Amino acid sequence: MGTVEPDVLSLTVAEMDFPVLAEVRHALTATIERGDLGYGVPAPRSLREALAGFAERRLGWRLDADQVTVMPDVMLAILELYRVIAGSGGAIGFATPAYPPFFREPALAGLDTVPVGLAADGSIDMRELDAALQAGIRAFVLCNPHNPTGRVLPRAELEAIAERCAAHEVWVLADEVHAPLVLSGAAHVPWLEVSDASRQWGIALTSASKAFNLAALKTAFAVTAEPRRGACSSASANSMIT
Ligand SMILES: Cc1ncc(COP(=O)(O)O)c(C=O)c1O
Repeated sequence: MGTVEPDVLSLTVAEMDFPVLAEVRHALTATIERGDLGYGVPAPRSLREALAGFAERRLGWRLDADQVTVMPDVMLAILELYRVIAGSGGAIGFATPAYPPFFREPALAGLDTVPVGLAADGSIDMRELDAALQAGIRAFVLCNPHNPTGRVLPRAELEAIAERCAAHEVWVLADEVHAPLVLSGAAHVPWLEVSDASRQWGIALTSASKAFNLAALKTAFAVTAEPRRGACSSASANSMIT
């Protein structure tokens, strides 16, 4: 896709290697034929309701449209939330290995990163998480299902992470962009369904970009347990989406 030299054969595998669903193609073609490419209503309720409907049908996760803030994409949402939650000079923890921009983007917001390693079985190394919390991280980016391991974190592990982060009043930014892609036999537990601690200190982030190959359409969602908590509103204002 123009990101490697012409004589390099790129062998990465991503959602872009799959065809766009016929339903999506037809809807987009109809939009173009109507010439409907101007400004839209910012974050219409129907869009937020569509996410709520999908979450219930596909993920068994009941949420209300008022809990949803629309963002341009998951990465920008994480970056703006970093800025709002941690401020300049703060530090963010994330589990590594990770989606590569997690390493680059915090520096753009003037933030340090504290990597938290994975144990041999792919679980979050709780001793490393404890060390990061002791070191004063202001937020922890949890990627569940994890990229690149593909591991779906079990409920007990999520509860332990929520408890530890809440005890330090550290926000968890739960990147759940791959949740609709879990294989049968695995059970994804949405972060806001884990416990009172996860709801109090959690912001779930998602988008149709991975499961439906729609990254270029730039629409993502931040979901909080209570309607539009301050951090999301400020981050969405920073990214000029309401
Ligand atoms: C774990 C993870 N989070 C976020 C993203 C980026 O999502 P978006 O395009 O909505 O910024 C990706 C893209 O591959 C990803 O793998």
